[in-house]
Amino acid sequence: MKELEEALSTFKGNPHMTIPALQAAQGKLGYLSREAIGDVAQTLGITTGEAYGVVTFYSQFRLKPVGKNIITVCRGTACHTMGSLGILKELEKTMGIHAGETDEKQEFTLQTIACFGACARAPVTVTEELGIPGRKVHGYMTKMKARDLVDGLKEKMTEEAAEAK
Ligand code: FES
Repeated sequence: MKELEEALSTFKGNPHMTIPALQAAQGKLGYLSREAIGDVAQTLGITTGEAYGVVTFYSQFRLKPVGKNIITVCRGTACHTMGSLGILKELEKTMGIHAGETDEKQEFTLQTIACFGACARAPVTVTEELGIPGRKVHGYMTKMKARDLVDGLKEKMTEEAAEAK
C-alpha cells in the first residue's frame, strides 16, 4: 500500500516494533484494513497471523473505518456516577448514531471507554481528529457541553470544506 510506505519505513525488518508500526499504520488510515496489516507484517518480517494476533489482543486497534472525528465517552465508575450515561445518550441523539458506530458521511465515530484515567474531571469525553496526533480531554461534561462539542466540530468541518474550495 503506497500511502503506508513512508509511515512504515523506520520499522523495516524490526519485528520488535510491531505495536508502534501498527499504531503508525492506524494513525495514517484511521483503522487497520486487511491490506494494511499485511503491509505491516511484510515490513517487519513477521507473518500476517502474528500481526493479527497483536491487533486483536489490544483494544486500541480498530478493524473498521472510523469518522473524521472520534468522540469517546468514558463509562468508568467515576464518570458513570457523574452522569456519563446521560451524556452518551445526548451524543447518540445529536449525532444519530449509537456507541460503536460511524455515521454514513464518515464524519463522526462514537465510542466508549472503561476509564480514561482522568477521573478527577469526571464525567470525561475525549475527542480526536483522524490523522492529527493528540486528543482533547473534555472534563466536567454536561449534556449541553456535549451538544456544543458536536456543533463546534461540525462548524469546523464546514469551514475547512469552504477553505478547501
Ligand atoms: S472513570 Fe472516567 S476517567 Fe476514570
